[in-house]
Parts: sequence; structure tokens; C-alpha cells
Amino acid sequence: MRMQNVKVGRNSLCPCGSGKKYKKCCMNKKQKVEQNFISKPSIPTNNLASYYAKKYQIHLKKTRDIELIKRAGKLVIETLNLVESELKAGMTTEEINTIVHEFTIKNKAKPATLNYNGYPKSTCVSIDNEVCHGVPGNRVIKDGNIVNVDITSILDGYVADANKTFFVGEPSPEAHKVVSVAEACLRKGMKKVRSGNTIGDIGWTIQKYAEEQNCSVVEAYVGHGVGFAFHELPHVPHFGKKGDGIKLIPGMVFTIEPMINLGKKEVKVLSDKWTAVTVDNSLSAQFEQTILVTENGYESLTPF
Ligand code: MF3
Ligand code: CO
Ligand code: CO
Repeated sequence: MRMQNVKVGRNSLCPCGSGKKYKKCCMNKKQKVEQNFISKPSIPTNNLASYYAKKYQIHLKKTRDIELIKRAGKLVIETLNLVESELKAGMTTEEINTIVHEFTIKNKAKPATLNYNGYPKSTCVSIDNEVCHGVPGNRVIKDGNIVNVDITSILDGYVADANKTFFVGEPSPEAHKVVSVAEACLRKGMKKVRSGNTIGDIGWTIQKYAEEQNCSVVEAYVGHGVGFAFHELPHVPHFGKKGDGIKLIPGMVFTIEPMINLGKKEVKVLSDKWTAVTVDNSLSAQFEQTILVTENGYESLTPF
């Protein structure tokens, strides 16, 4: 999610987890919180749940919620697998959109991106130097491209979000590198998810690995709470400091979706108002899963 798209009360705690009031911290970034829940957050049944709702606007998921997010997640992964099986040089990004749209509808679900803040398509397809939010259209996929397909489905009112970057034909060594670093970043981030660790632990481990590999972490877009709505709090930055930020507790559900650049971290948005590209034109890759915090660690609700 784009950092600028989130709004919080000025006197509540800043969602970045700094512990400061929002007005004294990130408020000047003009953030806006998604309040249009698709399914109603269940009423908190314990003090910790109320505390997280009040302080952080984090809505914990209960057993039944998790079951339903997992069903949406299963569909997202089946859709990604279908795209992978059909992806080939010569097809347009619009054709990928059609595959995603039709399979989603056939399975009684809705593509969350369609008409989301004016986004016109049912998936995002981001190629090579495109970081995220590539809008499907008449662009033709070529051999050697790296193609990220990001799918978010709403099934029975619950939302799951995942993406993968695919190779088309033989990847260049650079393409291979950025894609493997991005996938490793996701997996290393996931391994930090357990009750008692913090949001900062996830970002720290991702940033450390990416930079050791001479890659950079995009800061303009972050992971996000998900399940009742497409974009919920907290923000999940893919950079940061060990021990910083909100403490993870069981029932939290959020995405980890590191965008990793082969060159510099800076991005810009194209004139279509959506497609983000690397400023230095370097390759960028991303992997995303929807993750549940459990008592002992984590469970992916969109496993791959
Ligand atoms: N699925 C993306 C994410 O991981 C968000 C896409 S929003 C869109 O958060 F409007 F660009 F589609
Ligand atoms: Co996401
Ligand atoms: Co996504």
C-alpha cells in the first residue's frame, strides 16, 4: 500500500509504531486509513484486542475470520498458479487481467483492485523496472521479462492478497538475482513473525539481507493489515530497526510484500497515476503473502 493513502486521528498513536502521537510524527505525510470495511470487524472479546483496536486501529481476527481469509487466500494462490501456467511471451498484460478476472468471478469472488480508488483493472502486472501497480493493457510480454502478478480477491466478504514475480523465457543473470533476492526477503521476513516480535523486526531483517546483496528496499510502498478490508493497519515497512514498532500478537493478519530493486530504492509514478517504476530504470521484483500471527509463530493464509 502507498504510505500516503492512510489517515489516522491526530491524537492517536502513530501507526508507524514510533510511540509518538500521530500529529507529532507521520501526520504531515497526509496518510488516510481505509475505513470501508467489507466485513465487520468482530467485537473484541479481550482487553488486548480492545487495546490494539483503540491504540493502533488493528482489528484482530478470530478463528472464523481466519478460516474465511484462508479460503480467499486459497483462491488467490490458485489464480496465481493459473496465470503462471498460461504466461508466455507474446501475450498482453490485458490477457493476464482477463484470466484473473474470469477465474475470480467463476469462483464467486470479486477482484479487490477493480474500481479501488479508481484503479481500472482486476490485477496488477508489473514488468522489469516496474515496481508495482502496473495497469494491464496492450503491452506485449517478451522473452526475458520478469513479470509480477499481484492478486487480491474478496470471497464471502473476506480479503486475501498475494503476488509473485515470474520469469518469461530465460532470465538474464540480473533478472535472476533480483527475483531470488526478493523471494528470500519475503521468506526471511515471514520467519520473524511470532508473538512478541515487532513490526520492526520484519523490516530490519529484510533490509539487512537486501542490502548485503547490494540491492535496495523500496520505502514508498509497504505491507498492510488485510482480511476485513483490502488495506488495514498496521503498515508493515520492509525496512527499519530491530525491536521498533508495534508488538506482534496472535490474531494479527497482514501482508509482507517487499519490493526489491537492483539499483536505487527511489520510485516514481507514471502519468497513468498507478504504475510505479524505478527512478534509475533498474530491475525490480516483489513477492507477497498474507500472514497470520499465531501463538508460536506464523501461518501463511496464501501459502506458496
Ligand atoms: N495488491 C496491492 C497490494 O499488495 C495493491 C494494489 S492496489 C491497486 O497492496 F489499486 F493498485 F490495484
Ligand atoms: Co498487499
Ligand atoms: Co498485493
